[in-house]
Amino acid sequence: MPRKKVILFLTGCIVWVALYTLGCRTQPKQEARTPVDYIKAIPGPSDPVPVATAKKGEVLIGYSDCFSCHKEDQRSVGPAFKDIAKRYPVNQAYIEYLAKKVIQGGSGSWGNAVMTPHPQLALDNVKVMVSYILSMRE
Ligand code: HEC
Repeated sequence: MPRKKVILFLTGCIVWVALYTLGCRTQPKQEARTPVDYIKAIPGPSDPVPVATAKKGEVLIGYSDCFSCHKEDQRSVGPAFKDIAKRYPVNQAYIEYLAKKVIQGGSGSWGNAVMTPHPQLALDNVKVMVSYILSMRE
């Protein structure tokens, strides 16, 4: 092979390697944690929520700060109420569990966002609020 061609070939290789590494470096970084965009429904029978309870829950939620982080059918800071309803069956055990979570606050079930604690709310009232949220099951 003539010298000129060899040099051309080598330069070509170097340029190619340089572009390749540059290309790798400019690729977007992988997200450390991908958000959960699916709902894993917990299986189990659901009890009906009495209309009067749901109405009362709706009013209580209106008087609290829930809507600053939650929307009915869209994810906001917290999960959409309808998504919460899709996930949990309606029964006393889950109503109690979720009511305690609202009072204590926390994170981890839906991602990294944190729900502030609500120690000022009475457990019985929060249970009514949760019943209203779970009644949005379709
Ligand atoms: C500061 C924002 C914020 C406020 C205010 C707030 N939430 Fe939340 N809520 C969240 C976040 C964030 C989550 C998800 C927590 C998780 O991933 O464990 C959540 C989750 C929930 C859940 C589901 C919990 C679970 O473990 O699946 C319920 C039910 C709920 N909220 C009800 C309420 C009610 C009722 C109120 C009003 C009294 C309220 N939230 C006020 C941010 C908030």
